[in-house]
Amino acid sequence: MTTLLHIDASPRGDRSVSRKLSKSFVDQWLAHEPGATIIYWFDKVIRIGKTFTFDLARGDFPLEPIMSGKTLVVLSSRGEFGFGPGGVRETMNHLETHISTCAHYLGVQESHLIAVDYQEFDDERHRQSVADAFAAIPVLVRQCLGIDSPASVAAE
Ligand SMILES: Cc1cc2nc3c(=O)[nH]c(=O)nc-3n(C[C@H](O)[C@H](O)[C@H](O)COP(=O)(O)O)c2cc1C
Repeated sequence: MTTLLHIDASPRGDRSVSRKLSKSFVDQWLAHEPGATIIYWFDKVIRIGKTFTFDLARGDFPLEPIMSGKTLVVLSSRGEFGFGPGGVRETMNHLETHISTCAHYLGVQESHLIAVDYQEFDDERHRQSVADAFAAIPVLVRQCLGIDSPASVAAE
């Protein structure tokens, strides 16, 4: 049975796009696996002695994760657009790159990103991006649960 650590970071409460995405992800997961354990409101995630160890005997790379084999799902919302690889704002993406850097110390082996763009434009591009993100969530849930392989997900 799966344990999901559900972390919401947005302070925008009911107006938050990313909170809606994460709620959808958890709801979809529970629809498939009602007995899954959900751990919510959680802070100080990366902890010495609990999630990573520090030992100078390892030389120039003294940190090592304690856990392994974890899957990270980042559900993100951006006011603007073009933050992905090759995008016009790729070098301004400090959020997801930061999370990816930290993820190693949580034993993350596999990671996925679903992001909404254009929030501050509030136009058709945003509405399409929201629709695409919500459509991608059940596909990713099925993939993470091993119901569909990544290849069959891509073909859907
Ligand atoms: C203080 C502040 C700074 C922001 N900075 C950025 C930014 O650097 N890049 C961007 O794409 N959007 C930026 N935004 C827009 C948010 O990314 C966007 O509103 C997003 O939907 C917030 O996520 P949430 O809806 O889950 O709260 C910013 C919003 C606020 C309030």
